[in-house]
Amino acid sequence: MSEEEIPKQYYNILPDLPRPLDPYLGPDGAPVKPEQLEAIFPKELIRQEMSGERFVAIPEEVRGLLARVGRPTPLQRAVGLEKRRGTPARIYYKNEGSLFTGAHKINTAIAQAYYNAREGTERLATHQGKGAKDKSGKRRLSTETGAMQWGTALALACSLFELECEVFAVADSFNSKPGRRTLIELFGAKLHSSPSPVTEAGRRALAQNRNHPGSLGIAISEAIELAVSDERTKYSLGSVLNHVLLHQTVIGQEVIEQLKLFDEREPDYFIGCFGGGSNFAGFAYPALGLKLQRKAFRESEFRAVEPAEVPSLTAGEYRYDHGDTAGYTPKMKMYSLGKDTVPARIMAAGLRYHGAAPSASLLVNEGKVKAIARPEAEVFEAMRLFSLSEGLVPAPESSHAIADAVALALEAKRKNEERVIVFNLSGHGFLDLQSYQEKLEAAR
Ligand SMILES: Cc1ncc(COP(=O)(O)O)c(C=O)c1O
Repeated sequence: MSEEEIPKQYYNILPDLPRPLDPYLGPDGAPVKPEQLEAIFPKELIRQEMSGERFVAIPEEVRGLLARVGRPTPLQRAVGLEKRRGTPARIYYKNEGSLFTGAHKINTAIAQAYYNAREGTERLATHQGKGAKDKSGKRRLSTETGAMQWGTALALACSLFELECEVFAVADSFNSKPGRRTLIELFGAKLHSSPSPVTEAGRRALAQNRNHPGSLGIAISEAIELAVSDERTKYSLGSVLNHVLLHQTVIGQEVIEQLKLFDEREPDYFIGCFGGGSNFAGFAYPALGLKLQRKAFRESEFRAVEPAEVPSLTAGEYRYDHGDTAGYTPKMKMYSLGKDTVPARIMAAGLRYHGAAPSASLLVNEGKVKAIARPEAEVFEAMRLFSLSEGLVPAPESSHAIADAVALALEAKRKNEERVIVFNLSGHGFLDLQSYQEKLEAAR
């Protein structure tokens, strides 16, 4: 596929949902109005968040940058994996790990930095030779990061648009991924281990536990607190919200075109791992949308795979909850383990989130998406199998999708069925080697 084939529009699933999304609720319990979000997001992203239009044009500058960081990404057949498991299934994976920062997160990072830059976020002081401490109204973006993939992506996107960036990284990942720390700082962002002493939310968590492992819920609270307390700062989120999922739909639109090149029209399964929901949605929604419109993929099953240790979709409650621990975000109707939950310390830090994207939650609730939980031991084995047979080390998050694909491929073998399985390899694991090493040593 060539650069010209990068999609020209994002696909918005909202008009094709089986029922309307429940509104976000503000502190007074009433539906949130767009103006209420302006303290933290630029207007165009708020418009996209609430848009009922099926397609949203992708600005040419964003398409150009997507090409520069490696889009379109390849769809590859996992022949090594098929052979090793002796399955009659045909397995394909979309390799988002081939992007510059190592995961799908850069797709929305570029879009979010672009809209923030266009809407008045000014040029970084350092690039004008005034010194980084210049406070002359220069804008910046604040964010959380779980696996440190999103922090890396936003740091790079901000540097491409000459914006400042401040990242709150979940403490466990901050400590276990020194390579990611270097990348984030290399791209010019300021990095904190979360909970940090620089925000009220961080200080509260540290008062409870001085060695707090952190959580995405706390890191989100810290990043929002920074944005609302400083006029020049906007907040940027790496998953969950509609506009983030929207930007990721370049993945699934490319997949639909690439499947045709393999002469595969209607795969049996589309599989994505699930943290907040953005890689799953970006990969699956374009095809699922056609299924909901009864235009294609009528028999395909869409599977969201989460860790059995952090089972928000499979064991959470479908109810209104905050997206962060301090309760700064509006309440959203979603599957949640509860905003105060500190999720289990698993190697897939990007899947340690108490909630789930509202659109994906609705689709699970309506039976249009199947939620699956896979335990860490199975995920680790799938990661090893994929590394050995395909020669590519996947991220621990992505390995959840692999584990599901392998289980379906083995079932196909038992039943002697031809099946077509497509999954999203949301990122590579080259900077996750420390946790892999610990697992290998524990197994000795
Ligand atoms: C490689 C990778 N995959 C998946 C995820 C999960 O996030 P989401 O569900 O938004 O795709 C993350 C989150 O950090 C990630 O880094």
